[in-house]
Amino acid sequence: MDKEISKNLPREDDEETINLISSLPSDIDFEGTKLFKYQGCWYNEKTLQAILSFQRDFEPQDTDIIVASFPKSGTTWLKALTVALLERSKHSSDNHPLVLENPHSLVPFFELRLYLKSSKPDLSNISSSPRLFSTHVPFQTLKEGLKNSPCKIVYVWRNLKDVLVSFWYFKCANQEIEEAKNSLESMFESFCTGVSYYGPFWEHVLSYWRGSLEYPKHVLFLKYEELKTEPHAQLKKLAEFLGCPFTLQEEENGSLEEILDLCSFSNLKNLEINKTGRTPGGVDHKNFFRKGQVGDSKNYLTPEMEKRIDMIIEDKFRGSDIKF
Ligand code: A3P
Repeated sequence: MDKEISKNLPREDDEETINLISSLPSDIDFEGTKLFKYQGCWYNEKTLQAILSFQRDFEPQDTDIIVASFPKSGTTWLKALTVALLERSKHSSDNHPLVLENPHSLVPFFELRLYLKSSKPDLSNISSSPRLFSTHVPFQTLKEGLKNSPCKIVYVWRNLKDVLVSFWYFKCANQEIEEAKNSLESMFESFCTGVSYYGPFWEHVLSYWRGSLEYPKHVLFLKYEELKTEPHAQLKKLAEFLGCPFTLQEEENGSLEEILDLCSFSNLKNLEINKTGRTPGGVDHKNFFRKGQVGDSKNYLTPEMEKRIDMIIEDKFRGSDIKF
């Protein structure tokens, strides 16, 4: 058993898990954290251990819905839209779950919440129907945990440059600006090499793109920028995919607009729960709402950085129909 690994694990784990983690390729990221490569992507020990528990222990139900993404790609927004769609016409504006709770509390992460503290969390008290979960793991890793169940997976992806800047801001939310500036360059390097938490970005996006082609009834591939430019069309697509399409009457009554307004960046950002609350992991809810714009990365990346990212994108996404 690798003593260093077993010491860092947050809870008692079996020998098999510890041996597996010790046998994986490892590297150090820009912050000096040891990352392990598992099924194509990189994780720290705690996250990886939770992923392994999820894959082993999770008992899916056919109606489960999973919101998936690479971090900082619009997860919070997609969680809110999914909840609002499924809960529509059940609540008044005062007691709507999205007004009372942050989207991450309503749609918990497998590996960052449920399986983080326990290898066998009690999921029997989840009251939502269908059950809603989320994850940042790539498709192949999620698929293994879902064990051939016909769950619906909705994935959102976003321009790599905006993801990078959003990630950097999120990480540095509590740091001094000078320190943060330095870390943008290091983080950029780590994004470019692919050795970054949940990276490489391109493997992640391509895994769900392929999944959506292979299992179109089970994987919906959405783009943050399209949610911004054509929200009505994308929301209708999401509703149809989830098996709860809008009726003509709902369309005429403004149900789509109501959901889009409820989940808009400014509305969510200004809700009391999102201004003051905090996740069980200690993240201030307000840090999930920064600017919510497309192309803000232009204000932070140098032309050289942009060029290097453009080259990576061209290389890695060649042969796919993914357009940035
Ligand atoms: P920025 O940092 O570019 O502003 P995630 O939810 O995956 O953590 O992604 C966070 C990004 O989504 C942040 O981007 C955040 O501001 C943006 N975001 C959060 N809620 C949003 C909403 N309702 N509409 C659009 N963007 C939103």
